[in-house]
Amino acid sequence: MIVNEFIPKPYTQLLDRGAVAYSAPSNIALVKYWGKKVHQIPANSSISFTLNNCKTATALRFEKKTSKGFSFEVFLDGKLQDDFKPKIEQFFSRIEVYVPFLSSYHFVIETSNTFPHSSGIASSASGMSALALCLMQIEQQLDPAISKEFFNTKASFLARLGSGSACRSIEGNLIVWGSHANIEGSSDLVGIKYPYEVHHKFKNYRDTILLVDKGEKQVSSTVGHNLMHDHPFAEQRFAQAHSNMEALIPVLKSGDLKAFISIVEQEALTLHAMMMSSNPYFILMKPNTLEIINKLWAFRAKTGLHVCFTLDAGANVHVLFPDNEADEVQEFIATELAEHCQNGHYIEDKLGLGAEPIKI
Ligand code: PMV
Repeated sequence: MIVNEFIPKPYTQLLDRGAVAYSAPSNIALVKYWGKKVHQIPANSSISFTLNNCKTATALRFEKKTSKGFSFEVFLDGKLQDDFKPKIEQFFSRIEVYVPFLSSYHFVIETSNTFPHSSGIASSASGMSALALCLMQIEQQLDPAISKEFFNTKASFLARLGSGSACRSIEGNLIVWGSHANIEGSSDLVGIKYPYEVHHKFKNYRDTILLVDKGEKQVSSTVGHNLMHDHPFAEQRFAQAHSNMEALIPVLKSGDLKAFISIVEQEALTLHAMMMSSNPYFILMKPNTLEIINKLWAFRAKTGLHVCFTLDAGANVHVLFPDNEADEVQEFIATELAEHCQNGHYIEDKLGLGAEPIKI
């Protein structure tokens, strides 16, 4: 699939060298993307909260070269990270047609995450979006006429080709990816800002991430997505995601948090149900994931507070709650849930506004 609008005009002049940098946030899906077609096209539409504190900062230094092919080095927290290279190499080859200067430069990629290394929080969304944004900064230096809107749209388009959910990590604070007839402007190719009214109860919505298991995932999301191809429940799942997207529209407008909670928790558990019913099957939740969910449900029943959970492809639990209930919920997390986290660790986050350039 070649999307012509993202192929630049031939550059009149290439810069000899330079440096750019961007910081991009992670995101957490409310309606999940699980299953894809070729060229990173999602099997269903999804919607996510952009986070504020969990971010990747990436600097990209470039210098003209004459040799053929891609040439780059990657550093994480100042240390050479050769095991990141295959994913970046694959990303570069997927996007080269849209970013033809890629093979003209040697790149030094220096990256770091605000969340602890190997916290079990996927850094691919924030990492790929930060890298895509750096590449767009270079493109903007080569073609200063490009608009802010095109900059963000193309960054999302490129990021998607690195890691699907990364296309939702460019802007804030509610992002839709995947075409849905009821969501104007939605697209399989890029994330867009959710275009309809959102109730003030969602302002500064909180997400505290409970780090249940900081280890490497046993099954990568690439493998998980692929297992949806011959999955016995795939079609029902895609239809469910589609109707949950539709159901969220009036809920986001009215601020009906009870309805919000039931959609979000159903999505989280269905994601894991898909993993547990694929062939081969697998389980990413840990005993502490279930301990936390049960305690959270009991706390909600007792207090009537609007706290709920979601999960991504791992054992960690994202605890979501409105800003005005933060005091009680944070106290509950510290006293009741932290004991189920590895070394008692959790990260307090909230809705964020999206990626930002870094001065370099
Ligand atoms: O972007 P990927 O390929 O890492 O897939 C992410 C999938 C989930 O995090 C489980 C769901 C989602 O929509 O973010």
